[in-house]
Amino acid sequence: MLTLPPLLHARALKPLVELMVQDLADCRAAIWVGEADVGLSASANSTTMDDLGDSPGAVEFFHRFQATLPDWITQPAEVRWQNALLAWPKARVEGMMWLHLLGARLDVGGKLWVYGHNRGGIKSADRALAEVFGNAEVLASKAHGRLLQAVKTAPIGRGALADWAEAVTMTIPSLAVSPLAADASQPANPPASQAAPQQLTLTSYPGCFAHGRLDAGTEFLLAHLPAFAGDQRVLDYGSGVGVIAAALRARQPKQRLTLIDIDSLALQAAAANLPDGHGLASASLLHGDRLDALDLHQRFDAIVSNPPIHQGAAQSMDVLARLIADAPRFLSHGGALYLVMQHRLNLAPLLQTRFEHVELLASNDQYKLWRAR
Ligand SMILES: C[S@@+](CC[C@H](N)C(=O)[O-])C[C@H]1O[C@@H](n2cnc3c(N)ncnc32)[C@H](O)[C@@H]1O
Repeated sequence: MLTLPPLLHARALKPLVELMVQDLADCRAAIWVGEADVGLSASANSTTMDDLGDSPGAVEFFHRFQATLPDWITQPAEVRWQNALLAWPKARVEGMMWLHLLGARLDVGGKLWVYGHNRGGIKSADRALAEVFGNAEVLASKAHGRLLQAVKTAPIGRGALADWAEAVTMTIPSLAVSPLAADASQPANPPASQAAPQQLTLTSYPGCFAHGRLDAGTEFLLAHLPAFAGDQRVLDYGSGVGVIAAALRARQPKQRLTLIDIDSLALQAAAANLPDGHGLASASLLHGDRLDALDLHQRFDAIVSNPPIHQGAAQSMDVLARLIADAPRFLSHGGALYLVMQHRLNLAPLLQTRFEHVELLASNDQYKLWRAR
């Protein structure tokens, strides 16, 4: 029995999903790309293909927050599908990427269905569809959602993931040298770059966090994070494309780095941003959910994060609360958790439930950097 990607459980989209599934009944090969982040609650009851009527033919599912990137994304467009289904993502540029990646792999005459909630931007997706496929039709408009269809009539370009890699040059702030930031218990070696801001060119893909820019919270964290010694083990939790890890490596080429993210596309970018070799310590990249991605014996001198505080469009502290609960188990003696957070959110009470020493390392009118030991 196939289990649907979580978002498809959302009641609002179920009638649209049912329409597509009927059409899949005798499909030879289809791909279904489900994106969790379309501004909907994924909390409805578990739904399986069987609940949705006739079993479809051979359907492959891909959901970037649930699966490691399959070969068909990273290879040239040789795979051929009869149908493709796409949950329209929040970022239009990501939608455009999927239209090309899926369109390039459809048979000529094959159909692409795109569905989503009005709040997730589906109302303007028909223009994107027409731009890529030359045609677009609204098949259904129900329960605040829409189902669109396009038919492939001609070859579609930009079908390789590499066509969507974007190199972004960002200025990484210099290290904080304030006495507050110095960690007296673990004196750091002089960092590779003490004063000057650094220019870093990083790869990103559409839909990755802060695609094409340095997030202001991340910038604040990097500006106030103390220097770590090269042999200290640092975990970049919720690494995205690896900007924090890459900045730490630029400061300390031998920094021992581990990255975790649930977004397989972001980790693909992070792998490009943290290459091995040239005297650099190798970074370990883990695709997974929370600290569950780690081996139980792993220990870090620092866990650093600009943590996720949203699920879809809604604010949710669940992942952050789990990080705070689980982090002590993975910190070495004297190790610390560093979290940047919006100024309006006071993390002290939550941190104090698990850590003895909770300090505010830096703060401005937008952000706070917390250290917990
Ligand atoms: C606020 S972004 C920070 C990204 C990056 N560190 C930066 O500063 O640009 C949070 C990251 O956490 C990841 N994330 C969300 N939920 C997660 C989970 N349950 N486990 C691991 N990573 C998660 C997201 O994919 C996203 O890349």
